[in-house]
Amino acid sequence: KIPLILDMDPGVDDAVALAVAVNNPAFDVKLITSVAGNVSVDKTTRNELKLLEFFDKAEIPVARGAAQPLKKKFEDAAYIHGQSGLPGYDFPPVTLNSDPRPAVKAIYQTLKQAPAPMIIVATGAYTNIAELLLKYPEIKKQISRLVLMGGSISGGNVSSVAEFNVYTDPDAAKIVYQSGVPIVMIGLDVTLQALVTWETLKKLATLGKTGMMLYQLITAYQDIYSNGKPLHDVNTIFYLLHPEAIETRDYQIEVVTQGPAIGATVADIQNRWSQGRTNAKVGINIDADYFNQWLLEEVSQMIN
Ligand code: BDR
Ligand code: CA
Repeated sequence: KIPLILDMDPGVDDAVALAVAVNNPAFDVKLITSVAGNVSVDKTTRNELKLLEFFDKAEIPVARGAAQPLKKKFEDAAYIHGQSGLPGYDFPPVTLNSDPRPAVKAIYQTLKQAPAPMIIVATGAYTNIAELLLKYPEIKKQISRLVLMGGSISGGNVSSVAEFNVYTDPDAAKIVYQSGVPIVMIGLDVTLQALVTWETLKKLATLGKTGMMLYQLITAYQDIYSNGKPLHDVNTIFYLLHPEAIETRDYQIEVVTQGPAIGATVADIQNRWSQGRTNAKVGINIDADYFNQWLLEEVSQMIN
């Protein structure tokens, strides 16, 4: 089993990533943390609890994280994910409680207690991760990899160059990319290739209670392209299970924290300024048909 920490801002696509991570027996999710992003941190925390309650996974702790980016003013994405962050499905009122520890402390303790370095998957802004690295720099050695949804080297979704997670907290992203911790960047370059097709979406609705819940969320989700919808965050989980299905290249990534290109992730694609240094494996291509097929298989194996 692969032990994981998930740091998220659910969000419809975060919900799909969470669903696969907590249900696939290949993973052992030790902790889920929340961050302000798609909606406020109160809502992203509640959404994580709603999902764990739905999947009957009360044993996984949920710790509440940052309510604001490090420096930038917070801007949500309710126009994509609805006011609640999980639109289109009527979850019963939450009875689970979040962990009393703040996210950064919970992540620190989870890593410290782990017998071996662990993977952190982050699918929201990287505010909690940056705060962790600033507060406990010595914990870096307990992180084997940061698998990040975010960034793009081929055009953004909130501006012509910036992707939402990096744009939300560019200062945090800069700290993370400069930290020296091994990074896998699963950005828009990959996630916009792996659209969930209309055909896949229809099939999802037939896959029991979980399939219907995800179908309803994804149907209400407003991130729409002509051939389908991008489920950005679940690409990180797909990568962990099928790294061969995502082609990556090693690049030096620099994050722009000011000005019109704020939130851009710039890759030194011709090795002009990084002198051969690289700080990330960047996803470039994905087998989109395989991704669609995989998603249906994952959901059909979930408890209903
Ligand atoms: C990212 O932004 C959020 O809205 C999604 O959940 C995803 O993490 C895509 O740019
Ligand atoms: Ca997200």
